[in-house]
Amino acid sequence: MPSDETSDLGAQVEAARSAAMSLITGTTSAAEVAKIGGELAGKKSALNTLRSGLGKIQDPEARKSAGQLINEASQQVDAALQQRIAEFLVLERASQVASESLDLTEFATPSRRGNSHIVTQAMERLEDVFIGLGFQIAEGPEVETDFYNFEALNMPRTHPARSEFDTMFIEPFSKDHEPNTVLLRTHTSPVQIRVMQTWEPPIYAVMPGRVFRRDTPDATHMPVFHQIEGLVVDRDITFAHLAGIIEAFTKAFFGNEFTSRLRPSFFPFTEPSAEFDIKRPNGDWIELGGCGMVHPNVLRAGGIDPDEFTGFAFGFGIDRMAKERHNVEDIREMYTNDLRFLRQFS
Ligand code: FA5
Repeated sequence: MPSDETSDLGAQVEAARSAAMSLITGTTSAAEVAKIGGELAGKKSALNTLRSGLGKIQDPEARKSAGQLINEASQQVDAALQQRIAEFLVLERASQVASESLDLTEFATPSRRGNSHIVTQAMERLEDVFIGLGFQIAEGPEVETDFYNFEALNMPRTHPARSEFDTMFIEPFSKDHEPNTVLLRTHTSPVQIRVMQTWEPPIYAVMPGRVFRRDTPDATHMPVFHQIEGLVVDRDITFAHLAGIIEAFTKAFFGNEFTSRLRPSFFPFTEPSAEFDIKRPNGDWIELGGCGMVHPNVLRAGGIDPDEFTGFAFGFGIDRMAKERHNVEDIREMYTNDLRFLRQFS
């Protein structure tokens, strides 16, 4: 049975505990909690005053249980202090983040956002489609030498096919090149040679880029335009693989309502050669590029043995592809930099 002495003390401990708890609950900041925590830990706090009076209890058992009562109350007060501090730290951190964050939505409103050019979009889509078909991307320089643009592609100096490319020659950068041997590349085919010289077969590569010709601008021609070259070199590659890839590509890029055809043609760097046309849903055919089986002389120029490997190559006009995909009537529209036109393709 507790003595009157201890039951009176129990009531005092409970009063001190609940007073401390109300103080803690009433705090409004972490700093205030810290201040009250200091006061409650001080010698003069109600609980500590009761603790220092324990010595006056004569009965050792009663003294022990009174001590336990005070300790439990102190622990509850400490835990409440810690929890209240943690609550304020979370709140204060959230309000700091809110006050320091920058509102950038103004810069992302649709009226200010640009979009990539219709030809860039076509180039990126082409890359995606070919990566999906297992190809890798390669690039080459826009300023080329006669060797890569013509010679290595089976067009020696006197070859009549050279005259089909209205070439822009430039001053050679170094004495190593004779006059008229450095030029703005007329097609992306020179990158075929560069890839063959640096990669080991099997090669499955596409090479997009800008090309230059002295063509007069009209509805389907520009003097600066874009091509994407394709090159496959592997064992036992046949024309059927080329036709299959071209048809798979046509459907993936233009949609299932388009089909492709290959028409016999001539390129010095492929044998046999073909033109690649697509059929629009309205029944019209339009030429998009050339293709064929890589000529053995071209494989040799790239350091590949034509008795061991065969391959196919293609070169498509990207600007014309963008034109077809978006039903643009005149290719020159794409280069007038009229934002009203360009913004339609965002
Ligand atoms: C070539 O340039 C070959 N190098 C393609 C090739 C690669 C054949 C690999 C075989 C193997 P061509 O001159 O036909 O071929 O040009 C290819 C495509 O580029 C054309 O079908 C057309 O889509 C596009 N093109 C050609 N000239 C222009 C131009 N001035 N403006 C816009 N697009 C053009």
